[in-house]
Amino acid sequence: MKYNVKDFTLEEKLALLVGKNHWQTDSANGKLPELLLCDGPHGVRKCINGKTESATAMPNLSALANSWDETLAFACGETIADECVEMDVDILLAPGVNIKRTPLCGRNFEYFSEDPLLAGYMGKAYIEGVQSKGVGTSLKHFALNNREYHRLVQSSEVDERTFREIYAPAFEIALQAKPTTVMCSYNLVNGVYASENEKLLRKTLREEFGFEGVIVSDWSAVRNSAKAAKASLDLRMPCFVNAVSELKNALEEGWLTEEEVDKRVEKILELVEKREKADKKRTVSFTKDERHERAVGIARECIVLLKNTDNILPIQGGSVVVADAPHPVPPADTPFAFPPMGGGGSAYVATDFSPRPLHTELAQRLQDKPVTVSEASHRWCPSVESVGYKADTVVLAVGTNKTVESENFDRATLRLHPAQEEMILNVAKVNPNVVVVVYAGSAIDMRAWADKVKGIVFAGYLGEGASEAVADVLSGKYAPCGKLSETFPLCLEDTPTGSSCGNGYVERYDEGVFVGYRWYDSKKKDVLFPFGHGLSYAEFEYSDLKIEKKGETDYEVSFTVKNVSNVDGKEISQLYIRDPFSSVVRPEKELKGFTKTALKAGESKRITLALNARSFAFYSTSFDTWYVENGEFEILVGASSRDIRLSETIEIDLPMPTQAARAFKY
Ligand code: BGC
Repeated sequence: MKYNVKDFTLEEKLALLVGKNHWQTDSANGKLPELLLCDGPHGVRKCINGKTESATAMPNLSALANSWDETLAFACGETIADECVEMDVDILLAPGVNIKRTPLCGRNFEYFSEDPLLAGYMGKAYIEGVQSKGVGTSLKHFALNNREYHRLVQSSEVDERTFREIYAPAFEIALQAKPTTVMCSYNLVNGVYASENEKLLRKTLREEFGFEGVIVSDWSAVRNSAKAAKASLDLRMPCFVNAVSELKNALEEGWLTEEEVDKRVEKILELVEKREKADKKRTVSFTKDERHERAVGIARECIVLLKNTDNILPIQGGSVVVADAPHPVPPADTPFAFPPMGGGGSAYVATDFSPRPLHTELAQRLQDKPVTVSEASHRWCPSVESVGYKADTVVLAVGTNKTVESENFDRATLRLHPAQEEMILNVAKVNPNVVVVVYAGSAIDMRAWADKVKGIVFAGYLGEGASEAVADVLSGKYAPCGKLSETFPLCLEDTPTGSSCGNGYVERYDEGVFVGYRWYDSKKKDVLFPFGHGLSYAEFEYSDLKIEKKGETDYEVSFTVKNVSNVDGKEISQLYIRDPFSSVVRPEKELKGFTKTALKAGESKRITLALNARSFAFYSTSFDTWYVENGEFEILVGASSRDIRLSETIEIDLPMPTQAARAFKY
C-alpha cells in the first residue's frame, strides 16, 4: 500500500470519513488527491458551483434493461465513463439495481427490472463497462429503497426470505463486477437506518457478500456519523459540519475505537490508490459525435414492439402523419423537450443535444419507399383534423416526462395524461390505422385505448438518440428486438401493492416474494403485456430442448431457435424454473437465465444456458441458508414469461447434507 493509515493524524483521519464539499472527498491536509463523485446513471451530471456541464444522454436504465443485452449495458457504461475521463470525474454514482416493486415508484426509470436476475446481470455488465475505463462506480441504493414517497423516514419492513430472494440478489450479482463503492439507501430497514444498519452493511454486505470497497452514504442519508462508522459505512457524503465532532464524541466516550476508525480510513486510502493505479486506463476513446452514435445504437435495441395488428409496422407505403402529443406541462407554453430523454432528479442529464423531430427522421429513412411523411400542424395539442382523417397511417407519440417520473416523488397514476388518452381515442375514432409510440420510464396502464389502435411501440426513455432509434424501427431499417423487463399490469389495483404506500413510518413488504410476474402468475391475473414480452418483424421457432446433467445440481439447458421469417432479427430467449411441489410457498415460475441471439432470415442457432444449485434453491428461514428441496423441477424455455415454448421435468435427489448451503452462489 502506498498510503498508510499511520501517516495521518486523528483529525485528518476523521476528516477523511466525510466529504470535503458536495461532490469531493477530503485531501487530509493535502496528503491525498481529492476524488470527484458525480451522478449517473444515464450520463455524467457534473455540477460545480451550481453549473452543470453538458453530457451525452444515454438510454435510461429502465430502457436499457429492455434490451436484455449485457454487451449493451457494458457499452453504455463504457461510453459514459469515456466522458467521465474527459471531465475528470473519478467515480460515477451508478448504477441502481433496486427492484421495481411497484410501477408507481418515481425512480423506476433509473432501475432495471422487477426481476433480480435481470437487474443483477445488467448492473454487473454496466459496472464492468464503466470500470474498464478506470472510472469507479457506486452500486446503489442498498437496500430496499423501492419507492420515493417518505424515503427519508420510512422503514421498509421485510422478512428475511423476501430480502434474500428478491431484493438482495441483484446486488449480489452486480457485486461480482467489484464496484469501487456501494451506496446505502436513505430509508430504514426493519427499523434501523440503512446507513447505520450493522446487519445490512457489515454482516451482509461485507462479511457475507464479500464487498471490499468503500461504502458511501446516499447524499445526507447519515443521521449519526459514529453509528454509521460502527456499522461499517466509510464515507459520509456530502460534507456535514458536525460529522467530525460526532465521531470525536463517540471516541471520547469509548463507544467507538480508533481501530474502528482506522478500518474505515483504510478503505478510503485503498480507494484513492485504486484510482491512481487506474490512470493508464483513463483515456478518451470517443468523440462527442461517436458517443451520440453509440447512444442511438443502444437505444434502437431497447425499443419494445408491444402490438402489431395486421403488420401495420414497419411502414411500407402511403401517407403517414406524425403527431407529437407530449404530456402537458402548465403553463401551456412551457418549452419541454419532446421526446423526453429521461426522468428527473439526480439522474437528469443536461445534454446540449436538441432532440430531432421524429417525422423528419422517419421521412429520411423512408425516402426510397412510396411514402409521404408529414407532421401534424400543431405541436400541442394537434387537432384531429390536422392529424388527418385521410392519412393511411397515423403515428401518435405520447408519454410522461420528468415532471411525472422523478426522484423525490412517486407517480400518482399509471395512466397517461387524460389529454393524451383523449387524443388517441379521438384519432382512433376517425382513423383505423393508428400507431402509438410511448416514451416513459415505467409501466403504463393502456386499457383505455390499447384495443383501439393497431400498433403500440414502447420506446421508454431512450436518451438523446430517441427519434433516430424510433424512426429506425418504425421504418423497418431495424427490426425491433426489445422485450419488457417489467410487467405491464392492466391497472394499478392489480399490482401487488396497489395504491398503498406505507404510513409514513413503516412500509410492510407483505406480498413477500410475489413481486412483478411472480405475483401476476401466481395469482393467475391477466396482464396487459407480460414480463419478457416483445414482438419483432422477424418470427422465431423454438425446438429440440435438451437438458444435460453436469454435476449434482449443475445442468446445461440447450435448445434451437430458428428465424422462420425473411427478416433478420434478434430473439431474447428466457429460461424459467417451476417447482411444482414445495414445502414453502414459491412463485409460479422464476427467471433463471436469458440470452439474446442475432439470427439472419432463415438461420437457426443452438443456445446453451447453465443452471446451478442456486437456480433451484429457496432461502430457508429454518436452516437460515439456501436450500434445494429434492423432487421435480420444471424447466421452461420461452419467448416471454407467458409464452413458454419448450419444457421438460427433471428430478433432483441430493444427499441430505448437501441440500442446504450458504455457498450456493449465482
Ligand atoms: C440520490 C442518489 C444520488 C445522490 C447524489 C441522492 O439524492 O438518491 O442516487 O447519487 O443524491 O446526487
